[in-house]
Amino acid sequence: MTTRAVVEGVGHYLPERVVPNSEFEATLDTSDEWIRARSGIERRHFAAEGETTSDLAAAAARAALQDAGLAASDLDAIIVATSTPDLTFPSVATMVQEQLGMTQGFAFDIQAVCAGFVYALANANALIVSGQARRVMVIGAETFSRIMDWTDRSTCVLFGDGAGALILNAAEGDGSGADRGILSTDLHSDGRFRDLLYVDGGVSKTGTTGHLRMMGKEVFRHAVEKLAETAHTALEKAGLSGADVDWIVPHQANIRIITATAKKMGLPMDRVVLTVADHGNTSAASIPLALSVGCQRGQIKTGQLVVIEAIGGGLAWGSVVLRW
Ligand code: UT7
Repeated sequence: MTTRAVVEGVGHYLPERVVPNSEFEATLDTSDEWIRARSGIERRHFAAEGETTSDLAAAAARAALQDAGLAASDLDAIIVATSTPDLTFPSVATMVQEQLGMTQGFAFDIQAVCAGFVYALANANALIVSGQARRVMVIGAETFSRIMDWTDRSTCVLFGDGAGALILNAAEGDGSGADRGILSTDLHSDGRFRDLLYVDGGVSKTGTTGHLRMMGKEVFRHAVEKLAETAHTALEKAGLSGADVDWIVPHQANIRIITATAKKMGLPMDRVVLTVADHGNTSAASIPLALSVGCQRGQIKTGQLVVIEAIGGGLAWGSVVLRW
């Protein structure tokens, strides 16, 4: 028998305010046409004033608990992947714990920028497989609108706010690729590329929050090369191949990266869950948002094989293979 981390529930939350591409035309030398053509983004959500990452995360967590028919008292742990926490500390995860009224267990944040949810899933899986926790809530939540330089057209039109949550529970499998749950994980980072995507402020360096800076073309090149590779490695680790995949649920940064990765994996676009047009790039929130929306649309079904892949600042990248 093999312990597997199996999905029990999923949910998401998007802030009320929807910002179409056309809104940027008033203040920037840009156009709806350019943003759609170069990124696939049509609109994004922005958090309201006073609405924080922990508020978004807690709303997504409540939706996931409802989906699973569980209470917060049923959870052993909460992991939040975020690069835009409410405060430097305490963690967003403990704030979510408090908002849910959960007083047992433990909660902590993981920061791997856009790869954060992949890293968080891998860590939740390790906690479950090693017997340190049975039921773990994994959340990706971001308010990237708070770290945009609104004069930089090459970045501020790309990002959005949101949160998604997944509940994983320990279950026994037979150790084969037919098991439900997380079947393999593959994580990488390479700090030599730290200057390709970063925030130019922080606690220890400047004492400020800073703004996002990105060398888009360079990140794009790394993304196309590294995402198909990590997905392939994760499938190999699970003893599976591209032919077994029902859904790719990629980080939603750019439709052109998503298309190129699917092509490299030899999979058609009708097997890719897409939310980039409606959400923009929500960093660590983009994959759990896409998983939740994909379930709501009736795309992802119990028993299907899902491959998740993401890359972001660090560079940090990786993938997870799981049977829903
Ligand atoms: O989530 C973490 C991972 N991040 C990513 O995966 C993002 C990866 N990168 C990308 O998605 C793309 O590189 C971008 C969407 C950021 C940019 O697309 P691109 O095709 O690489 O465009 P570019 O940066 O080469 O820019 C082409 C032109 C430039 O003008 P010149 O130098 O050719 O005259 C830019 O100044 O487009 C210009 N440009 C814009 N024009 C209108 C840049 N931003 C805009 C804009 N509106 N918003």
